[in-house]
Amino acid sequence: MHSRDLLWALSILMAINTSEPSRSRSHMTAVAGEPFYLEYCPSSAEREDPKGMIRWIKKKGALEQIELDPRNSSRIMFNGCALEFWPVELDDSGLYIFKMGNDTWNWNLMVISRNEHRCFTENRVTSKSVEVKKNLELRCGNHHYKKWVQRTSFYKDCREITENNKNPFNSQMNAEFQDMGYYTCVHSLHYNGKLFNVTNTFNVSVTGDRNNIIPVLYGSKFNEIEVELGKDKQLNCSALVNEDDNIYWSIWRENGIDPNVHEENEIKTKTTDGKWQASRVLSIENINENNLNFPYNCTVISGEGSETNVFILVRKGGIDDIPDHIFTRGMITASLILVAVVFVVIGCYIYRVDLTLFYRRFIGKDETLTDGKTYDAFVSYLKECRPENCEEHTFAVEILPSVLEKHFGYRLCIFERDVLPGGAVVDEIHSLIEKSRRIIIVLSERYMSNKVRYELESGLHEALVERKIKIILIEFTPVRDVMFLPQSLELLKSHRVLKWKAEKSLSYNSSFWKNLRYLMPAKTIKPGIDKSEVLPVLSRPDHQQR
Ligand SMILES: *[C@@H]1O[C@H](CO)[C@@H](O)[C@H](O)[C@H]1NC(C)=O
Ligand SMILES: *[C@@H]1O[C@H](CO)[C@@H](O)[C@H](O)[C@H]1NC(C)=O
Ligand SMILES: *[C@@H]1O[C@H](CO)[C@@H](O)[C@H](O)[C@H]1NC(C)=O
Ligand SMILES: *[C@@H]1O[C@H](CO)[C@@H](O)[C@H](O)[C@H]1NC(C)=O
Ligand SMILES: *[C@@H]1O[C@H](CO)[C@@H](O)[C@H](O)[C@H]1NC(C)=O
Ligand SMILES: *[C@@H]1O[C@H](CO)[C@@H](O)[C@H](O)[C@H]1NC(C)=O
Repeated sequence: MHSRDLLWALSILMAINTSEPSRSRSHMTAVAGEPFYLEYCPSSAEREDPKGMIRWIKKKGALEQIELDPRNSSRIMFNGCALEFWPVELDDSGLYIFKMGNDTWNWNLMVISRNEHRCFTENRVTSKSVEVKKNLELRCGNHHYKKWVQRTSFYKDCREITENNKNPFNSQMNAEFQDMGYYTCVHSLHYNGKLFNVTNTFNVSVTGDRNNIIPVLYGSKFNEIEVELGKDKQLNCSALVNEDDNIYWSIWRENGIDPNVHEENEIKTKTTDGKWQASRVLSIENINENNLNFPYNCTVISGEGSETNVFILVRKGGIDDIPDHIFTRGMITASLILVAVVFVVIGCYIYRVDLTLFYRRFIGKDETLTDGKTYDAFVSYLKECRPENCEEHTFAVEILPSVLEKHFGYRLCIFERDVLPGGAVVDEIHSLIEKSRRIIIVLSERYMSNKVRYELESGLHEALVERKIKIILIEFTPVRDVMFLPQSLELLKSHRVLKWKAEKSLSYNSSFWKNLRYLMPAKTIKPGIDKSEVLPVLSRPDHQQR
């Protein structure tokens, strides 16, 4: 039994393929300065006493072949089926042949020098691979030297393993990734009064569970997501995972989680090829400044490790832009205000006459108090005609004063009423015009005498050029041919012409009178106005009687 144990230990240690037939050749590596042995025990051998039956032959080069004799060397010993070196030297490299009867066994031994800088020699390292979480156990395995072992020390990556640490040589342990490394056990032997060290080193690598996959997050490691403030955003993180793996979002900050950030539940589905796909959504509602430029990390974690994708929200279209919704609202508001302003302006224009009149009445405006003028308007009609058959005359001398003077309190100077026609009055006309705030000219198509026209024109021209007086034209009958008008009046025609529309214009509230009052100077109507007061200064008794 004991021999078989030894055989097994040796077989494993030396990586001998025992199923090979004899004559096969094993490659052995030994470190110079350490004890070493070769052993082969055929099943037929009487292991207890194979003396004389076993021969060890060493071949050096192609021809030289010597039979080893333990008597010739103090280092090399025959021990049962084993050939022992105390210790092995570089010189011992070569082919060794075991012979017992018809059985032979060959070894190709290579002795290498030890690494002086490390506790082990790289080429004499046994690789061992273990799955994570699985049992890791190492055996020093030198039963052969058991009886000489004085003490045994253990090293991980050449640091002695203390009693507090996990020691795979002493007890089983669950392998973790950080357990990877070089494990060395050193037996210190006492042999024939000398101390020897036997070193055994394992290169332990820890692998992932072969049934498990290493989880993979979809998408890129770093994601910059453009968002608009005030909007919602869902970040979807998904991964190919094992059944037990989890995805989670890192959303903690120093002052807790933002209240508008929620991690949804993880959703896991089995894919058609038997793998699992997990996804987890991070909902961010009503995005605010706090959410920007903060790394929202999505991590998948499993026994095989973890992986993280980083999501960062950035403001859409650069930092200083107004958010879209505010911009839109602003534009709408501005447009509405613009439209309202346009309507108001149009309304004011349309109702400018009424508004102006209302305004004058409301604040009691009176332009006539301080300008030192006597009349509010000088009235003239550009036609010579008799009172009996001339409508213009009636209009200028009766209708105009009856409304403007009696009803609205203006004071008129009426050319036909207050100034007798004739060459002598030209200067007087000039002075009267100068004393008036407006000139009202009643236009009609009928013939206008050259004389009146000429005189009036010269006076008007002066007034117009000096801009001391405003002119109001009243188109009493439609005027087709404007050529007869004085040139200076033509200039005004477009905007200060009021059209008299017989019946329509009679009422005080008609637009004709409103427009006329609008063009007239602002004047407060004095209460209790007397007929005599409104009569022109220059009125003559014969005119009044009419
Ligand atoms: C061992 O010694 C014997 C005689 O004592 C000699 O014949 C033989 O060659 C020696 N072998 C070696 C390997 O030195
Ligand atoms: C060795 O082989 C020979 C012939 O091949 C045979 O006669 C002999 O018995 C064998 N010896 C042993 C010990 O098996
Ligand atoms: C030890 O194992 C690791 C991983 O298996 C390998 O990369 C390394 O080369 C090995 N070291 C030696 C000395 O064999
Ligand atoms: C054997 O190893 C020990 C440490 O384990 C060391 O102190 C000692 O010097 C070594 N002896 C020899 C002969 O290499
Ligand atoms: C997230 O993405 C995964 C994979 O692309 C998809 O299966 C899942 O339905 C998505 N979840 C949501 C809420 O959009
Ligand atoms: C997110 O991941 C990045 C890079 O991996 C890291 O720098 C950052 O600290 C992480 N943030 C949080 C909140 O976990």
